Amino acid sequence: LEASIDVDVNKVIAPIAPEIFGQFIEHLGRAIDGGVYEEGSTLSNAKGYRKDVLEKVQQLRASVLRFPGGTFTKIYHWTDGVGPKKDRHARPNLIWGGVTNNHFGTDEFIDYSRTLNAAPYLAVNMGTGTAEEAANWVEYCNGTRDTYYANMRRKNGNDKPFNVKYWGLGNEESAEPDAGRLQNVKEFTKEAWFYAKLMKLQDPSIKFILPGADDTWNEQLLKDMNPVCDYISTHYYVSTPKRDVPSSLFGLVDGLETQIIKMKKQIADLTPGKVTGFSEWYRFPPRQQAVKISLDELGIWEHEGEGAYHLENAYNWNHALGTATFYNIMLRHADVVGMATWAQTVNVLAPILTSKTASIAQTVFYPMVFYRKHSGDTAIAAIVKTPQIEMKDAKEHAALDVTATINSKDGSLIILVVNRHAEADTKTSLAGISNKYRSATAYELNAASVLAANDIKQPKKNVVTEKEQALSLPLREYTFKAHSITALVFKG
Ligand code: AHR
Repeated sequence: LEASIDVDVNKVIAPIAPEIFGQFIEHLGRAIDGGVYEEGSTLSNAKGYRKDVLEKVQQLRASVLRFPGGTFTKIYHWTDGVGPKKDRHARPNLIWGGVTNNHFGTDEFIDYSRTLNAAPYLAVNMGTGTAEEAANWVEYCNGTRDTYYANMRRKNGNDKPFNVKYWGLGNEESAEPDAGRLQNVKEFTKEAWFYAKLMKLQDPSIKFILPGADDTWNEQLLKDMNPVCDYISTHYYVSTPKRDVPSSLFGLVDGLETQIIKMKKQIADLTPGKVTGFSEWYRFPPRQQAVKISLDELGIWEHEGEGAYHLENAYNWNHALGTATFYNIMLRHADVVGMATWAQTVNVLAPILTSKTASIAQTVFYPMVFYRKHSGDTAIAAIVKTPQIEMKDAKEHAALDVTATINSKDGSLIILVVNRHAEADTKTSLAGISNKYRSATAYELNAASVLAANDIKQPKKNVVTEKEQALSLPLREYTFKAHSITALVFKG
């Protein structure tokens, strides 16, 4: 197969928000208890963190960590999870089943985020909670004065404020089947304004992520909440039908781009200063910076697997190609995608799986590490001609998915290419690459086939191969191997 890529370093799309490399942990199944955290395990440290898991999570270099949900947030009272562990309230997990003993609460989450060097992102309870409870949480985390909840934090061993910048106002609030009670957008915005007001009074510097939904909801939300809507979220799961491999996966993955383009228009259509709703009453000035999209749940949901709600999915190499495509799409839309947190980090739809005695990095783990390392800091334009592949959904999808970036710090150019063809290598002509570069290196991730997978029953085995190859310049052509993820890096 043959293709071409023409990059243009002078056509800058936008700086890439480091926050797109985030992760998400929820009190759901074994995501936290039995995943991140396992008291009494010989694999855990004195704090109860699984050391083998932490070592893998650290490799992801998450920029943001979201907690405690997800849907769980709709019934979560943060005060259950602070103070001496023996006194914490164990509660039935009314959303996902089982019991949450709350030994992993706010202080543990902040400590874990700090260990990862990730910015903490907390989602507040707009289901069974109140605006006052949410504002108290801001005070507990960020308060600096001699006040009740700031002092509670100090008493719990944290003298310095946590400075939590990112706060989610609820989660999927339009969703009917769970504990959501604000499914009408007008009801939601009325309540959300009250939350925003009280929380900002505790700390005016905090940023809000507001839950998006369908087009009507988003348009109204953006209008009504404009001054405090730093991010509008969209949750994007590629929910492939059971055992439908490898087939329609890429069609669904590519749908993320359609979703982003649609939301970009919704955001652009906003007229700042002409907001409706409660903004005038609450006296918030119109926002100066554009609203960004937060993909604060992004993942591959196969509807099969072990554990609660069959969420412990096993991923093959094809899913890794889908994951890499997700990152390419977010980079291509760096002008509007401001944050993303992968749903989720451990055991639940996750790159890391655990058993009582071991843990593994699944195939999807590798593109996450790869993109974090090779993505550069600024997205640029590229014109791509690619052959198509036919898939089970009877549509054609691009074989090559391509994004180009630069690293403004050292002037390097990076071309990120996913060859999604299951069998064919793709010979590709390259244009727009300046003669100023003195070195070029190809970094490649691959596996023996698209169905190759790591297995928790064989934790020492790894099907993913990583290659690095110096290339001669000038480079006018490169052959991307079948089912590969490649970064061509040109340095000056
Ligand atoms: O990530 C699993 C669940 O998926 C989250 O709790 C919810 O927000 C979403 O529907």
